[in-house]
Amino acid sequence: MNRRAFMRKTAALGAAAALPSVLRQGSLVATAPDAARARAARLGSELRIGVIGCGGRGTGAATNALEASPDARITAVGDLFEDRVASCLTQLAQLRGRAEVAPANRFVGLQAFEGVLSTPCDVVILATPPGFRPQHFAAAVDAGKHVFLEKPGAVDGTGIRTVLAAAARADERRLSVVAGTQRRHETSYREAIERIRGGAIGDIVAARVFWNTGSLWHKQRDPTRSDTENQIRNWLYHTWLSGDHIVEQHVHNIDIANWALGANPVRCVAVGGRQVRTDPANFGHIFDHFAVDFEYPPARDGAPRFVLSMARQQDGTAGRVEEVMRGTRGMARLASGFAQITGESPWQFTGQNNNPYVEEHVDLHAAIRSGTPLNEARDLAYSTLTAIMGRTAAYTGAEVSWDEALNDPTDLFPRDLQMGALPQATVPMPGRPWPPTPATPKSP
Ligand SMILES: NC(=O)c1ccc[n+]([C@@H]2O[C@H](COP(=O)([O-])OP(=O)(O)OC[C@H]3O[C@@H](n4cnc5c(N)ncnc54)[C@H](O)[C@@H]3O)[C@@H](O)[C@H]2O)c1
Repeated sequence: MNRRAFMRKTAALGAAAALPSVLRQGSLVATAPDAARARAARLGSELRIGVIGCGGRGTGAATNALEASPDARITAVGDLFEDRVASCLTQLAQLRGRAEVAPANRFVGLQAFEGVLSTPCDVVILATPPGFRPQHFAAAVDAGKHVFLEKPGAVDGTGIRTVLAAAARADERRLSVVAGTQRRHETSYREAIERIRGGAIGDIVAARVFWNTGSLWHKQRDPTRSDTENQIRNWLYHTWLSGDHIVEQHVHNIDIANWALGANPVRCVAVGGRQVRTDPANFGHIFDHFAVDFEYPPARDGAPRFVLSMARQQDGTAGRVEEVMRGTRGMARLASGFAQITGESPWQFTGQNNNPYVEEHVDLHAAIRSGTPLNEARDLAYSTLTAIMGRTAAYTGAEVSWDEALNDPTDLFPRDLQMGALPQATVPMPGRPWPPTPATPKSP
């Protein structure tokens, strides 16, 4: 259906009075399949992209999206802080004419996401700190936008349920969602996992996944800024914003375990703590190391399967970022750009690897244009939940089951968030409940 036919149809539906909103948001008035078809037809010529969260990754993902599609443009941007919008636009200006965002389509503040969603963009890139992701994802789906959903999907069980509910609505509306777990779009990983799932190492009996590294950036507390601004600018170190580094960073490796095993864990136990980054002014309250033993559903012979996950951010320690799987007929070792299988069916990736950060957008745009939606939100939600359950087990010292994690009423997002005073959470202590005050359940 072309644009004119689409507008005639929406008028026939008695939506004439809502025409400006139809023009702005496409799918809000028409039925979902009609809207998807109308969008696909229009997308033959141009793809308009909005960015929510204009920091390092938002700017990077915007650049990757433009690389993926020659006829894509950045048409709207939003960030909590004006300086981040400005630096993002300065960087994107190098892409000559493809990111000339009109001043009316630049939004600042806690409601900036609503501003971006109110513009007639087709796709939104969600790249704020993860604590905002569930709210922004749900709003993007409800506004009828296709989504590039950065990882992790949420920071707590409540957020995961919001993402899962929004993923179901995205399916109903035939919207595409690609997640920022870029290994799933990397050629070496795709070929290796296809072989592993095809039986190249037999049944997987155990795996080990690692993200052991040194320290990351941090922003010194600025006494002229509010608590909220200080925490959000230094978001890695506050669990309500980042989920802690097992969720924020190690989710990539945990996602590979779930993908290769084709399952989510049933329970876990974990240890973790904070030995090096102890200054709350710089490093909030998160841990600097975790080790989790995840138990997965049994293999075909009935034996339980285990995945060791280890994540460390401590300077001067041995670095390791990879996934290793042991099967009944061999072993697989995977890392970015490297994939090797040893045993009965030896193989090593020797092909031309791709840039997975660009490929994510190639795959998203292809799904949008073909009218055959791709929705990775559930996989992201489940891998994120796996990391969250490992974190809860380490924070509390308790054994945590999948169902407990999925139904956990914890909602870390501050009530009525304003740019003002905000208490700093205490460092979790195994053997004690976490979060210390019981959370009030919130429906998605
Ligand atoms: N896939 C990957 O390999 C990869 C790599 C880096 C980062 N990431 C993810 O991307 C996300 C962003 O990370 P980053 O490195 O770009 O961080 P960043 O601090 O550089 O950028 C985050 C931006 O979001 C803005 N922001 C904060 N709260 C906001 C709100 N409520 N509304 C609008 N804007 C808001 C901040 O001002 C900042 O500009 C994180 O989820 C991170 O885990 C993924």
